[in-house]
Amino acid sequence: MLSEKIQTELVKQLNRESESSQLYLSMASWVEKKGYEGICEFLYDHSNEERIHMLKLIRYINKRGGNVILNKISIHNITYISLKELFKNLFEHEKEISKEINFLVEISLQEKDYFTYNFLQWYIKEQIEEEALSKMILDKIDLIGEDKGGLYLFDKDIKTFHKKNKNCNCG
Ligand code: FEO
Repeated sequence: MLSEKIQTELVKQLNRESESSQLYLSMASWVEKKGYEGICEFLYDHSNEERIHMLKLIRYINKRGGNVILNKISIHNITYISLKELFKNLFEHEKEISKEINFLVEISLQEKDYFTYNFLQWYIKEQIEEEALSKMILDKIDLIGEDKGGLYLFDKDIKTFHKKNKNCNCG
């Protein structure tokens, strides 16, 4: 059984993952309208990944005899002034999620819940990848600046990079 404290924090986290999925969906839609085919594919897929993160938590909570509570999500049609702003938000968002995962790991140790501690290791690994990836994209966009040709090429690059990563079973 999950302790009350762990149950509460896991439910908070599953709702954060659900919000992340919705946030990336709204980003993907904004980017698609701007004509960036590669970046929008990346963001649509990322939204699906966040949904998987949420599902893993739901199934874990149920398996441990806890209760899942899904919040109403309030992310709608966010607009950005630039791709740089969008990816800056994405990077900041991932850093916040990492903090929350670290906090959860800490709580699981305090509560001596080693099952949850073990379960969370997957999220730790995932967050290392996600932070590094969003930082890499942000750095590249920073380098390109407002150069339209550079952004066009970057959009093509991210499509190729993303396809390669999708087909790779490493992770
Ligand atoms: Fe599920 Fe990107 O954190």
